[in-house]
Amino acid sequence: MITTKDYVVSELIKSDDYISGEALSSKLGISRAAINSAVKALRLEGYDIESSTRKGYSLKSNPDVLSVGEMLAYLPAERLDKVIVLDETDSTNKVLKDMGSDGAPEGTIVIADCQLKGRGRLGRSFLSPHGKGIYFSYLVRPKSRIDEISTITAWTAVAISNAINNVFGVKPDIKWVNDLLINKKKICGILTELSLETESGHIDNIVIGIGINVNHDPEDFPEELRDIASSISFECKKHESRSKLASEMVKEMDKLVECWADGKEIYLNQYRENCINIGRDVACVNIHGEGNPRPGKAIGINDDFSIRIEFEDGSVENLSSGEVSVRGLYGYV
Ligand code: BTN
Repeated sequence: MITTKDYVVSELIKSDDYISGEALSSKLGISRAAINSAVKALRLEGYDIESSTRKGYSLKSNPDVLSVGEMLAYLPAERLDKVIVLDETDSTNKVLKDMGSDGAPEGTIVIADCQLKGRGRLGRSFLSPHGKGIYFSYLVRPKSRIDEISTITAWTAVAISNAINNVFGVKPDIKWVNDLLINKKKICGILTELSLETESGHIDNIVIGIGINVNHDPEDFPEELRDIASSISFECKKHESRSKLASEMVKEMDKLVECWADGKEIYLNQYRENCINIGRDVACVNIHGEGNPRPGKAIGINDDFSIRIEFEDGSVENLSSGEVSVRGLYGYV
């Protein structure tokens, strides 16, 4: 539920200048006293709000928090009805999967500031400390066949790359099939989990989980990951509000779902433009990392988002993300 404090903080963020208590009160339809106590509460949370008897309130700086109030500065209140922001949870994918089986509608989103058991691909964990990243899960109820749905993760890589570009002005590269990189270091991972109807075998829902490293410093990663993982702020030398980025993610994911599955050209073209593997040497390994890596060169992305590899013996194969992962970028193995 959106509170008075949420409305006040969103108006303060939206306003470039001072905004009077009277203007706030009439815009929001709440008393001056309620505005005063919201401002007081926000100051206690670390918001630097200047007040002048003549001009009213002005927001000088804000803590970098993920909150419905801040997101309200960028999204309509009705959209936020289906957005849940948690301080801490085990895994946003797990929470949303449970909500999905209880009938939550398409477009429901769970966001957390911290995950205690963040899930990564292939049973790995995903580092999700407090105050650093965005851990975001989006529920879709697609009317698609299972073989069509696997490409939604690649579409998501494009959507999230756009969201990051909209806020930071930097377009991350896509490492096939769905990692986002800046300066060849991973700043975002995506994990899509599917729930099937047991009787019919049809898709009941899918949960698209997106983890973005926004503010991490190198010390926040275990030593063995420091060469391959980083954060947007560290790589771009720039700070932006996580709530603003989370709001852009909502907009871009809503657009994706609206385009699904007819708008494939747009996503495929952008994927091809941003895929960093193309034209580079790669080593293909099976998805469990077992066996000898097969050296080759990535020469294209096919219409089904599989990757075309030319091997050293001249043979060309189309490989899907269920079969292999590719390695071989400098700084990102
Ligand atoms: C990967 O790169 O291995 C995928 C990582 C996906 C992490 C996100 S964070 C939000 C969502 N909840 C989870 O538990 N995992 C995904």
